[in-house]
Amino acid sequence: MTIDTTIRPAESADLAAVRALLVETWHDTYDPLIGADKVREITDSWHSMENLTQQLSLPETAFLVAESEGHVIGHVFASAQKPPVLTIARLYVLPARQRQGIGKRLLDEVVGRYRGCTTVRLVVEEENVKGLAFYRREGFRSIGEAVVEGIKHLRMERPR
Ligand SMILES: CC(C)(COP(=O)(O)OP(=O)(O)OC[C@H]1O[C@@H](n2cnc3c(N)ncnc32)[C@H](O)[C@@H]1OP(=O)(O)O)[C@@H](O)C(=O)NCCC(=O)NCCS
Repeated sequence: MTIDTTIRPAESADLAAVRALLVETWHDTYDPLIGADKVREITDSWHSMENLTQQLSLPETAFLVAESEGHVIGHVFASAQKPPVLTIARLYVLPARQRQGIGKRLLDEVVGRYRGCTTVRLVVEEENVKGLAFYRREGFRSIGEAVVEGIKHLRMERPR
């Protein structure tokens, strides 16, 4: 793990970098699964500056970044709006910085912020090998399926 990485709440000034991280990591992860055009369509909508700006100020949510040497290299967005469930809506680490422990630090930090939440949930694309391996390693188990944007996902859960 890189010792110079800080996990902190995002600020407005980070949002362009968060969007760039999401676009790069989405293409790297999902182009082979759903194609670059579909990825562009989804990220342009879900990760627009307008949406990110709105999400930054939602109550009972954590919008965090991992920062290294002034650069945003990871991001997690999670909601505790329906306690006792904490929902991980996004967890992304730049491809060049993956497998260095940053994803685990982001997950641990966000779970640690919501001690009243006893269950952690998320959905992950069922062919997303990295994501599935990561979540299984972190103790998540499949609790069913979901279809998001016409794409099959697994619903996963673990006790906090
Ligand atoms: C999933 C993700 C957030 C994990 O973050 P990370 O910083 O790479 O993870 P960590 O270094 O904390 O943990 C590493 C573990 O993640 C999984 N993993 C990460 N990269 C992987 C790869 N290239 N191949 C297979 N497993 C991988 C493995 O379980 C690995 O454990 P191992 O090294 O013991 O095999 C990151 O890989 C990522 O952004 N992936 C693309 C986006 C994504 O899938 N997000 C989650 C879906 S919502």
